[in-house]
Amino acid sequence: MKIINDIDTMKKWRNKGKKIAFVPTMGGLHQGHLLLVELAKENADRVVVSIFVNPTQFGEGEDFTDYPRTVEADLALLQVQGVDCVFMPSVEAIYPNGMALDVKVGEIGGILCGKTRPHFFNGVVQVVERLLEIVRPDVAVFGQKDYQQLHIIRQFTLAGSDPEIEIIAGKIMREKDGLAMSTRNQYLSVDERNIAPQLYKTLHQLHQGELDRKSASRQLQHYFKLDYLEMLDANTLKQITDNTSKIAILCAVFLGSTRLIDNIIFKRG
Ligand code: PAF
Repeated sequence: MKIINDIDTMKKWRNKGKKIAFVPTMGGLHQGHLLLVELAKENADRVVVSIFVNPTQFGEGEDFTDYPRTVEADLALLQVQGVDCVFMPSVEAIYPNGMALDVKVGEIGGILCGKTRPHFFNGVVQVVERLLEIVRPDVAVFGQKDYQQLHIIRQFTLAGSDPEIEIIAGKIMREKDGLAMSTRNQYLSVDERNIAPQLYKTLHQLHQGELDRKSASRQLQHYFKLDYLEMLDANTLKQITDNTSKIAILCAVFLGSTRLIDNIIFKRG
């Protein structure tokens, strides 16, 4: 497994004739990431994973400095997984001209998670564009847990940043009790970890029609500080209309100081 830190070497690594799949990550890897790597392997000849904790997607007071950095463990997992190349650039290499945000995602970046984290999607698109430009993959794989992120990245690559790259979504990996796997689950205390599965449980009850949206919100508020709970058209992230074919239940909550997100996407019955 090749480990590359500098941009020129990464750019040159790309072999003509080989199909490359790319899995961008911020490290702190768990089974959810490994599933993305599996998908990448199924869809290409060679797999590149990046580990880069991107400062521009964290707002003031967020967890940039505390974000789990577990490079040795991450590399060991990726090696076992048969990854061909790990790209671990420095902040200076990715942002040689400074970190001013030069991407404006627009309205879609200001709803749902973007309301609480107004910098977030501008920073994500900024770094994803940089990484795609350096790695130049044929396929890029993103997790569906960050559904709004996936939706925005799809819009941006289709709209021009690189329409040739196929974006593939990896399904949400869950713990046995239903909690969606996330690097940030490490922040939860034992008590919080016991409460956390109530998030998926409530979304599941809403999906099954055992709760309506109002009672689901009330139930979530019993356990968490509710950021949002929405049911939207999964293809547009706008209100459901007669033309809606797929629905997204999208939710974010705070449990202590940890923000958890989760979703259920389903075909309209
Ligand atoms: O989902 C993530 O881990 C990050 O937002 C990403 C896509 C790697 C960009 O930093």
